[in-house]
Amino acid sequence: MRSHERPRGSISVRGVWKSFPGADRPALDGVDLRVDAGRVCALLGANGAGKTTLVRILTTLTRKDAGTVIVDGADVDRDPAGVRASIGVVGQYAALDEVLSARENLELFARLVGLNRADARARTDELLDQAGLCEHGGRRVSGFSGGMRRRLDLVTSMITRPSVLLIDEPTTGLDPVARRTIWDAVRALVADGTTVLLTTQYLEEADELADDVVILRDGSVLATGTPKELKALVGEPRMEMRESTLEDVYLHLHERGNAA
Ligand SMILES: Nc1ncnc2c1ncn2[C@@H]1O[C@H](COP(=O)(O)OP(=O)(O)OP(=O)(O)O)[C@@H](O)[C@H]1O
Ligand SMILES: [Mg+2]
Repeated sequence: MRSHERPRGSISVRGVWKSFPGADRPALDGVDLRVDAGRVCALLGANGAGKTTLVRILTTLTRKDAGTVIVDGADVDRDPAGVRASIGVVGQYAALDEVLSARENLELFARLVGLNRADARARTDELLDQAGLCEHGGRRVSGFSGGMRRRLDLVTSMITRPSVLLIDEPTTGLDPVARRTIWDAVRALVADGTTVLLTTQYLEEADELADDVVILRDGSVLATGTPKELKALVGEPRMEMRESTLEDVYLHLHERGNAA
């Protein structure tokens, strides 16, 4: 299939291999995954699984050693600018100006990407609403909680209306209440059809947000499916995804693999 025939917003990763100098194993060891346009995919894995490495390859910040990656019809090697034009990225740390208010941060970014004053204001209103921050728009970011910063960072990445949003560990380090408000903000953002790839170490988060889950371990895909399929695959109807740990899932899939 020629790349321009792919649906807008899809992500295709095939045979991706990445090794860092001096490491005893590759960070990514032949990863395949596909996210269809408008779907939310959770890349679920423990520390060191390779989540951030894959996200960085998708953003064109890290070069893979082998494989093919197409984001929204653009190849990361042949058309990195095309990829960057399609994506919004939310990294682990917020890129916000502490002395500005939430509204000022959003309006500033909006002006920087070329919106006029009225459009920047209108887009800011929309995004403050999606972040659940309407009442806090005038407050300085320096007084924001971790969850509020994260929500503001999330919507800041949506100013340009990217067709693909990449989010690395949206809720790590946040308390359960703040996590729920992030989930609501992600849901508000995906309601308009944005394709999302998010990484997480939390089964519950994958279950809450994702249409499809890819379980990554030590650079390899261990299993892929809907949250429901993966719960069935793990083989214990009583084992609710939200109540088990990622290690349990790894163990179940590993034992299953050995038994097969
Ligand atoms: N710049 C780098 N140089 C050397 N090794 C690296 C580099 N970046 C990542 N690695 C290694 O690659 C592997 C995958 O790391 P990565 O950061 O992608 O994992 P992760 O799933 O994002 O983990 P975490 O949940 O801790 O964020 C790890 O073994 C890590 O040590
Ligand atoms: Mg990481």
